[in-house]
Amino acid sequence: MQKQFPIGVFDSGYGGLTILKEFVARMPEYDFIYLGDNARAPYGNRSFETVYEYTLECVQQLFDMGCRLVILACNTASAKALRTIQQHDLPAIDSQRRVLGVIRPTSEVVGRLTATYQVGIFATSGTVNSGSYEIEIEKFSPHIRVFQEACPMWVPMVEYNEFDKPGADYFIQQHINRLLNKSDEIDTIILGCTHYPLLLPKIKQYLPPHIKVIAQGEIVTDSLMDYLQRHPEMDNMCSKNKSLSFFTTDSTTIFDEHAAIFFGQEVHSVHIHI
Ligand code: DGL
Repeated sequence: MQKQFPIGVFDSGYGGLTILKEFVARMPEYDFIYLGDNARAPYGNRSFETVYEYTLECVQQLFDMGCRLVILACNTASAKALRTIQQHDLPAIDSQRRVLGVIRPTSEVVGRLTATYQVGIFATSGTVNSGSYEIEIEKFSPHIRVFQEACPMWVPMVEYNEFDKPGADYFIQQHINRLLNKSDEIDTIILGCTHYPLLLPKIKQYLPPHIKVIAQGEIVTDSLMDYLQRHPEMDNMCSKNKSLSFFTTDSTTIFDEHAAIFFGQEVHSVHIHI
């Protein structure tokens, strides 16, 4: 019998689809399962304990579906749950399985992108308060100064399909101004939340043109491809039949409608209770 070990991709809601889209474009032969915990999204303002508990439940669900490798395509979950899952839970669940996040790969490359060594981060309150970007960037590029801005309204704006409506402009301008007031030498801004790429056209509209805005899709894909190359034992385990399935903890009708916007093509999801 053919083995079915897809790569699991997890997000609190739709944001991880901006990462999955890039995985599928660059690694089309692999099998992927996407799980969006839409019923409990957003995670951004929740406590460490809650984000950890929800994320672990979703990772366990993806393991039960056959995944040997799970990518937390969510900065908030990567910031608040990844370390504990890697260090505490994985050894007890199955030491052969792996869970990877999005903050480390992003932090790894930022030193190559900035000339002023002043980098801005837009992220959820949870990610900002965790200090994860500061900690990770310090490891790779200690000379970089990191300026963070929490944007609590941005995920709801995206989740509720308001990202391209006129109301979004107010909150986008507000957070851009606040971030740029922290330093006038920022030349690179990381979108440290996988929901934010949908806001990119409006963000670019209000940012001075010399500032680079970095979305994570390409970076995380480069990092996953590199990981699989360095770990042939994991790569051999990942099944490659070009299959793609989507699961949501909330309504499939709403998921399919919204997910198509994030993913750029039709999506047919299955409901799952967690
Ligand atoms: N996509 C998640 C992230 O990257 C959004 C978190 C949320 O649910 O608030 O942080």
